[in-house]
Amino acid sequence: MSDNFLKRDTFSSKFGVIAAAAGSAVGLGNIWRFPLVTTQNGGGAFLLLYVGFILFIGIPVMLSEFSIGRRAQSNAFGSFKKLAPGTPWYMVGFLGIITAFVILAFYSTVAGWTLEYLIQAVTGTLFQSENMEQNFADFSSHPYRPVLWQLVFMVLTAVVVFAGIKKGIEKITKILMPILVVLIIFVVVRSVTLDGAKEGVKYLFVPDWSAVNFKTVLMALGQAAFSLSIGMGTLITYGSYIRKRNNLLKTSTQVALADTSIAILSSLMVVPAIFAFSTGSIGDISPGPGLVFEVLPNVFKSMPGGVIFSIIFFFLLCVAALTSTISVLEVVVAYMKEELKLSRGKATLVASVSISVIGVFATLSFGVLGNFTILGQTIFGLLNYASANIMLTFGALLIVIFVGWSLGKSNFMDEISNKGIIISSFHKTVFFIIRYIAPIAIGIIAVAALFIEGLTG
Ligand code: PHE
Repeated sequence: MSDNFLKRDTFSSKFGVIAAAAGSAVGLGNIWRFPLVTTQNGGGAFLLLYVGFILFIGIPVMLSEFSIGRRAQSNAFGSFKKLAPGTPWYMVGFLGIITAFVILAFYSTVAGWTLEYLIQAVTGTLFQSENMEQNFADFSSHPYRPVLWQLVFMVLTAVVVFAGIKKGIEKITKILMPILVVLIIFVVVRSVTLDGAKEGVKYLFVPDWSAVNFKTVLMALGQAAFSLSIGMGTLITYGSYIRKRNNLLKTSTQVALADTSIAILSSLMVVPAIFAFSTGSIGDISPGPGLVFEVLPNVFKSMPGGVIFSIIFFFLLCVAALTSTISVLEVVVAYMKEELKLSRGKATLVASVSISVIGVFATLSFGVLGNFTILGQTIFGLLNYASANIMLTFGALLIVIFVGWSLGKSNFMDEISNKGIIISSFHKTVFFIIRYIAPIAIGIIAVAALFIEGLTG
């Protein structure tokens, strides 16, 4: 055991931790879901709610996960076993491992699509298409092309995870995240300077409080949780690789800030461009494939220099997806490595192959398995709904209850203050939120999520 402890890989720098954790947070949720959810739910009003939830719920939950992982120096499952031996808390870790399987299975479907579209953009076939809706329908229902891209994406993910924490995850996210930021800003500048873009910016930011109701509030909290990658042990796992001298509260705040900034920038990249070129109403676009794979390609086609922008856009979608998928696969790999005593290589192979098997069914549910439904949902729909709406929110709820009531104040304070070295007046407040406010707020969403479809994810 101590041998294992000594050999644990770690992130080598503060920037490495931020790049990896922000890489996990920034994903398809930011670029394809956030802009639409915001514009369709009251613009600035939704944004204010969202930012409020990030600050008062998201950061405390993230800090809870980092603290659990770093204190236990173990994977999501092992952390609970170590910190609360002889109790059923390890079940929360196990739920996280299962959630990782489920999320990656459907996330890799979409990640695979982004690869196909990148290639279509590069080779010019995208703009040859007369009808983008048809183009997407043909591709996504093809018997093997989307499956192949999904497997390619899983291989890319597995290669990074196999290379380890320092040499794989940290190295790649340190390169890709700055590139992602620069490219997004580049596209934002283009989008907001288009004729007619101003209307889009206004639509995005001017608050429409009449659109806000109970469901909107719940959606904002759900989106915040999904976007920050909280609730399934990703950040417990990453937390276990953070060095003891790192300031966890500062890191959590920086990651949340990066994720939120990129979500807002993504909206500025997408919404003004749609306003400038699209004829239909933005209110009619449904979140998901419609925006990224149908509406935006049309926008790029009408835009001067659209080829370049479409290539950049799909490239950055791939990058955002990859830095998220590696964080999800690492949850399972760390578990298999430490609990089932597999080597990193074997764990990566077993985890990625088994997830891919489920993933292929999710992908095929847009084609040959389209008519196969469970509880009225396709396989993709069910995996998406179950993980993002139910498993993540219950996961986040159980994690804050664990820290607030089982790990307890003195252990938590000891961990976030680096054994008393960091003194901050925020520490007490954060613990109060973790113990009382967050469980109540997340409890409401977790229960409501069971009843309201399309709340998160
Ligand atoms: N945060 C990622 C996104 O916004 C998705 C994700 C959820 C990643 C949970 C890891 C864990 O796309």
